[in-house]
Amino acid sequence: MGEEFPRLDGARPLVGHMPEMYRHFPELCERGVRAHGPLFWVQGGPGAEQLMLATRDAASLLKDKALSTSFYAEGFGPLLADTLFAFDGAEHKRLRGLMAPAFTPKRIGQTEVMRVIDEVATRSIERWIEAGHFDAIRAAKEYALEIIFRLVGVPREHLDAFRVQFERYRLCAVPSEGWVLSPLVWAGVRARDWIDQRLGAMVDRCREDEDESTLLGAIANRRDASGQFIERKLVVANLRLLVLAGHETTAATLAWTLLHAATDVRLQEQALEQTLPPDDDSKVVDFAGQQFLEAARLYPTVHSVIRRTRSPLRVEGREVPAGLLVNVPLVHSLRDPGRFSEPSVYRPQRWEDWPPPGSVRAAMFGGGPHFCLGYHIALAEGTRFHRHLAAALRRHGRRLRRHGAVPAPVFLPLAHPPGKHVISLERAPLRRIKGQA
Ligand code: HEM
Repeated sequence: MGEEFPRLDGARPLVGHMPEMYRHFPELCERGVRAHGPLFWVQGGPGAEQLMLATRDAASLLKDKALSTSFYAEGFGPLLADTLFAFDGAEHKRLRGLMAPAFTPKRIGQTEVMRVIDEVATRSIERWIEAGHFDAIRAAKEYALEIIFRLVGVPREHLDAFRVQFERYRLCAVPSEGWVLSPLVWAGVRARDWIDQRLGAMVDRCREDEDESTLLGAIANRRDASGQFIERKLVVANLRLLVLAGHETTAATLAWTLLHAATDVRLQEQALEQTLPPDDDSKVVDFAGQQFLEAARLYPTVHSVIRRTRSPLRVEGREVPAGLLVNVPLVHSLRDPGRFSEPSVYRPQRWEDWPPPGSVRAAMFGGGPHFCLGYHIALAEGTRFHRHLAAALRRHGRRLRRHGAVPAPVFLPLAHPPGKHVISLERAPLRRIKGQA
C-alpha cells in the first residue's frame, strides 16, 4: 500500500533514516520536499516505515477525520491505554468534552494553578541563585515536574516517591509484542499500578469532599449530562497522562529559553525592560511569553505527530490510502519561511499576539481534536517563570551566564537539548543592565 509514493534516499541498513531524524529532522523534511514534494516514505527504524505528510499547514491537516490515533493504542497500550491520546472519534470527543472545562483560562484562574506555578517558580529560582549555578535541563525538568505533580494532587511530601515511580512507568514505552511483555515493560506496569492506586485514592477523597477548587477536583467532580462522574479509571489514567504530556514538553522548552538567555545577555536586558510583573493579567504578550513561544516554535518538543489513516485522505491533491502509518511533521510548518521570516533564527520579538489554539502558528501544540489540552497551563508555566526570573535577577543584581554556543537539538524521541549545560548566576553590575539606575 502506498507504493506510488517515493522513498527518500539515504536510508541506512537496519536503522534507516533514524540517525538523520535524530540530528537533522527539519532538514530531512526540507530535503524530502525538495526531492519529492510533501509526500514521501521514510524509514524510522525497523518496522517504523512512515509516509511523511510534510505540508506547511499541519494544523489544518490534523483536523481531518481520516486520521486516527489508533497507533498509540496498538503500540503503546501499557503506557497510554484509557488516555485521551489513545482514544479517537466519539469516545475521545466525550472524554475531552468532560475534561476540557477544567483547562480554560477562566477556570485555571479560579483554581490553584497560578498559585502553584508562582510558588514553585520563586522557590526554584531563589535556590539556583543561592547555589550560584544550575543545570538548565535538570532544573527546568524539576520545575515542570513539580508543578504538574502538584496539580494532579500529589502532596509535597510524596513528590520524591512519585518521581521515582514515574521514571519507571516510562519503561512502558519500550516496544513489546502483543501480550508478551518484556521485563522492562513489566517493571513499568508495576510502577504504573503504584501511581494509579495513589491517584485513585486522591480522586476518591476529592469526590467525598466535593472539592472543585483544584484542577484535580475540577476533573474528578465533573459530571456528564446524566449526572454521572467520569469513570474512575479514566480519570486516573488521564491524570497520569497530564504528567506524561505536561512535563518534558514544558521543561525542554524552558531549557531552550534559559540556554539562549544565558548565551546572549541582550535577551536578559530586554527581559528586564519588556517583562510584566508576575501577577499582571493583561492579555499582552510580554517578553517572557515571547521567549517561551519562540523556543516552542524553533524547537517543538513534539516535532511530529504519528497517525494512521482510517480512510483515504487527500493531501495537496494526492490521495493517501487508508491503513498507512503517517507522520505529520509540526516542525516543518513552524519553520515555514512564508510565515516566519528567517525561520531558523531564535527571535522572540516575532510574537506580537498569542497564537489562537488550533492555528498553524500554534502548531507546536498540535492541531485538530487532540490539540494540547494543557495549552493555557503551559503558557502560564512558561510566562510566569520568566517573569519571576526577570524580577529575581533584578532584585539580586545577577545575570545568567554560559560559555559557548546554544547546542543544536536532538529530535528523538522528543526534541531536546543534548547533554548537561551549567548556567552560572554572575553578580553583574546593575549599570550594565539597561533601564536600571
Ligand atoms: C511546551 C509545552 C507543551 C507542548 C509543546 C505540548 C504539545 C502537545 C502536542 C503537540 C499535543 C498533541 C499530540 C498529538 O496530537 O498526538 C499535545 C497534547 C496534549 N497535551 Fe500538551 N504540550 C505542552 C504542555 C502540556 C501541559 C503543561 C499539559 C498538562 C497540563 C499538556 C497536556 C496535554 C494533553 C492531555 C494532551 C492530549 C490531548 C488529547 O489527546 O486530546 N500539555 N501537547
